[in-house]
Amino acid sequence: MSNYHIKNLEEYFKVYRKSIREPEEFWEEIAEEHFVWRKRWDNVLNWDFTKPEIKWFENAKLNITENCIDRHLRTKGDKTAILFEPNDPNEPAQHITYKRLADQVNKMANVLKDHGIQKGDRVCIYLPMIPELAYAVLACARIGAIHSVVFAGFSSTALATRIQDSDCKMVITSDGSYRGSKSIDLKGIVDEALKSCESVKSVLVAKRINSDIQMMDGRDKWLKPLMEAASGECEPEIMDAEDPLFILYTSGSTGMPKGMVHTTAGYMVYTAYTFKNVFQYREGDVYWCTADIGWITGHSYIVYGPLANGATTILFEGVPSYPDHGRFWEVIQKHKVTQFYTAPTAIRALAKEDISYVEKYDLSSLKVIGSVGEPINEEAWHWYDDNVGKKKCPIVDTWWQTETGGMLISPIPYVTPTIPTFATLPLPGVQPVLMDENGQEIKGNLAEGRLCIKFPWPSIARTIWGNHDRYKETYFSAYKNHYFTGDGARRDATGYYRITGRVDDVIIVSGHNLGTAPIEDAINEHNAVAESAIVGFPHDIKGNALYGFITLKESGETRNHDNLRKEINQLITEQIGPIAKLDKIQFTVGLPKTRSGKIMRRILRKIACNEMDSMGDISTLLNPEVVEQIKNERL
Ligand code: WTA
Repeated sequence: MSNYHIKNLEEYFKVYRKSIREPEEFWEEIAEEHFVWRKRWDNVLNWDFTKPEIKWFENAKLNITENCIDRHLRTKGDKTAILFEPNDPNEPAQHITYKRLADQVNKMANVLKDHGIQKGDRVCIYLPMIPELAYAVLACARIGAIHSVVFAGFSSTALATRIQDSDCKMVITSDGSYRGSKSIDLKGIVDEALKSCESVKSVLVAKRINSDIQMMDGRDKWLKPLMEAASGECEPEIMDAEDPLFILYTSGSTGMPKGMVHTTAGYMVYTAYTFKNVFQYREGDVYWCTADIGWITGHSYIVYGPLANGATTILFEGVPSYPDHGRFWEVIQKHKVTQFYTAPTAIRALAKEDISYVEKYDLSSLKVIGSVGEPINEEAWHWYDDNVGKKKCPIVDTWWQTETGGMLISPIPYVTPTIPTFATLPLPGVQPVLMDENGQEIKGNLAEGRLCIKFPWPSIARTIWGNHDRYKETYFSAYKNHYFTGDGARRDATGYYRITGRVDDVIIVSGHNLGTAPIEDAINEHNAVAESAIVGFPHDIKGNALYGFITLKESGETRNHDNLRKEINQLITEQIGPIAKLDKIQFTVGLPKTRSGKIMRRILRKIACNEMDSMGDISTLLNPEVVEQIKNERL
């Protein structure tokens, strides 16, 4: 009997136990029965967390697009693979069938080849949520090029850093993007970025907003005529199981983002398996994940996971507030969505609006609703349960990371009883542990500590592009022989997990991971700034917002402080993107430091969060006197 589709709690425990006792047999059976391979593996798993080195399905050969597209053509050619819902509700939705998807992906793959892209080359994709984004991702996979999708809300500087880090040969972009009532000049951002990216030889441009843009001769080409002229047949490149499929950047504790490298076979098997179970996907369902493909959630659960299951996946270009706050609910009614997957920040924002926006629409098609990206607070959980799921749809609070490739801790709907704010139990194959301050595993159910995973699962990122040492240092050094997640968690008496949040220098704002270091670097570039420290503080909608403590070079700085605040946020917008702007900026006479000169963020965090009664001992600081002053001037 296949373990592929879990249907009740007893079966979950049985399957889970097997996946721990015999992980290789467990994953081998799933890989064998549910995917097409050009050559079988010689060995299921080879791993060593001390190096670290992880290989799944060693020496197997495959192409992920054969699994996501070709194999469905015979039975599902006319089924909608991607349902494109445009920003403007008056623009008709597009039902892109598996047949059409195959045609478009092959055409784009041929265009890439014609532009010299070969197996192993990196292609940067900087596109809004339009069908070309999915085609571009799959076209790269078709020919074995490594895609690096950069979220199209990042600034030109952030884009350039990512292009340079992985030496991309090509950028695929569009003339612009729609975002609610606004439009954004994406091509202009790319042009600016490419001034410092010599590796890029060609730029393919999709037309979306029909704006007047500059095309650089010899470098830039319109995508449409090239695709129209290209053949709709393209033999898939035969890839090794461990060949890189993509690079996706995520924030870290230093300025340079980490290019997480995901490989082919394990990623495919794991995202497909988790999609099937965590959404209890059945033939005929219409699945909608509102994330952007620029993030891991979009890679794994808009593109690869759903398509590997032959599902219909919605690609939504718009925002939850346009043309009004009923948009999500309108789309659910319109397309009879069965599974809906979104972020707590969106839920909180919509919960603040008039309830009539939700009540106006028929949401009775929904079977499962999901949450991802940050801890969901109790109030938001209940609002979601009451008003969207109408208390009849299980909420899957899915915990995972860019680095994990797929969900690791999550309820299985209609199987795992849920408790608000708990991600509940590990999925099959996942072995979470909690560690104490001394690096020891905390045994027994009731516990709180740092969340680590002690055994590899198929979709774990294999390295950081060009920096294996940093990979080892960041994830495998804090606790010997364990993958360290950077999150804290609590385990209750029944073994359920509740993620408490980041324990490192990453702050999650509206579901976006932001490292404090790059933001501080951006601020410090301002000529009036001497030093800065960023911390997070709780925010009703965003989850966390950013609080900046900034000292100026000259205390008598003549600009008025509001102007200075604007300039600083402008710099952040240019260097990173508007998502990293500070909500509060307090100019201080100094920053609290240890005697060795290290900024004490812990103290600043307490001040920003207004937890000033529990600051602990500050007498050992180099400059305890500044703390009083910062407290008094708190915003
Ligand atoms: C946080 C997103 C609580 C966590 C898929 C993690 C969550 C980081 C949850 C990864 C959840 C994600 N409950 N926290 N259900 N899901 N997180 O790389 O801190 O964008 O480490 O991946 O988001 O964010 P990333």
